[in-house]
Amino acid sequence: MRGEVLTLFPDLVSGVLGQSMLKRAQEKGLLAVRVRNLRDYTEDRHKVADDAPYGGGGGMVLKPEPFVRAVEALQAGAEEQGEPSGLRVIMPSPQGRPFSQQIAQELSEEARTIVFLCGHYEGIDERVRLSLKPEEISIGDYVLTGGELAALVMIDAATRLIPGVLGDPDSALRDSFQEPLLDYPHYTRPPEFRGLAVPEILLSGNHEHIRRWRRKEALRSTYVKRPDLLRDRVLSAEDRRLLDE
Ligand code: ADE
Repeated sequence: MRGEVLTLFPDLVSGVLGQSMLKRAQEKGLLAVRVRNLRDYTEDRHKVADDAPYGGGGGMVLKPEPFVRAVEALQAGAEEQGEPSGLRVIMPSPQGRPFSQQIAQELSEEARTIVFLCGHYEGIDERVRLSLKPEEISIGDYVLTGGELAALVMIDAATRLIPGVLGDPDSALRDSFQEPLLDYPHYTRPPEFRGLAVPEILLSGNHEHIRRWRRKEALRSTYVKRPDLLRDRVLSAEDRRLLDE
């Protein structure tokens, strides 16, 4: 997966990309994300990327030129490198379609370079939307201070689905939401912690019993915490039996 993040706060984004799984995915060559400072695409001596809103009101609006110039430079770069598929331009925005595991999967398989246009302050000049026609995607019904954290959420969720990123290749398949079921409980050593014992079955070594226990716990947890995920779903005979136990 290849990504480009256009932002006024490159350090905010690079900090997260330089840690843990995202760092390792890049080291393994499975993920390549570049962070670009919008100031580098401004047209004036002072590298001003924002300005006061026409029509008055508080806050600042991000100017259109840096976004459009940066995307055009990326487009030209992609053509030069002979990447026929071009760019997929995403604008994180609370007005976008809701992000989901399905979109994460799609991004993880995307052949095009994914460009994230990160707004900040009051917003981005409307002409960025009109001229670049980005896909707007929201990570939830709340408002963040900028698109950077939303872009990182999308990159993170997609990266762990790239084959080879996770240590355990089955773990992405077992994910809640991949199949829309919540996760089962996890335990590690010690076998007892402050009077709380690890369920006996997990110590039994019986893989079939463990598989069934985990499935039952996942079904139960979903039934209690997110019954909406089960509503339109036809359960297998085994799942029905486990849920009834
Ligand atoms: N930018 C600000 N809030 C956002 C949200 N909820 N999702 C995506 N981008 C955003």
